[in-house]
Amino acid sequence: MSKSGSPVQGQKTETRQPQFVESPLCRFDDLEDGHSRGFDPLSEGRDTMFIVRQGDVLYGWRNNCPHYENARMAWKKNEFLNGDRSRIVCGAHGALFDIASGQCVLGPCLGQSLTPVPLTILDGQVFLEEPYSPGLRPRPGRHHP
Ligand code: FES
Repeated sequence: MSKSGSPVQGQKTETRQPQFVESPLCRFDDLEDGHSRGFDPLSEGRDTMFIVRQGDVLYGWRNNCPHYENARMAWKKNEFLNGDRSRIVCGAHGALFDIASGQCVLGPCLGQSLTPVPLTILDGQVFLEEPYSPGLRPRPGRHHP
């Protein structure tokens, strides 16, 4: 047992195991057609994924740009699309991604892809289809290599 304020050796305080999220992310009708919205399924304090709706189809992606590991992509809350809403855009350096495939079609990570988040719709509610891994953003005060 450690005293208050003293470092604890060999004890990992972060849980990075995928977790099954039972509660819905939102209602399908809450998602505006042609728009994007961020979500924080594990209550990590930031949107670690986002959904783009195109008609009746939803595309779920991790909020991690492949250009720099863990880089957030939205240029504004819930804004993951470019001006004409035809592509996903990374707000950091402007990489453009195909909404359906997640593949970078222009920018510094050309040819790389976003990480998909499988979704399912039940009774008008949107759920994560698979266990979800926490975001891997370093905690404040830690150095990222
Ligand atoms: S971090 Fe996304 S384009 Fe550079």
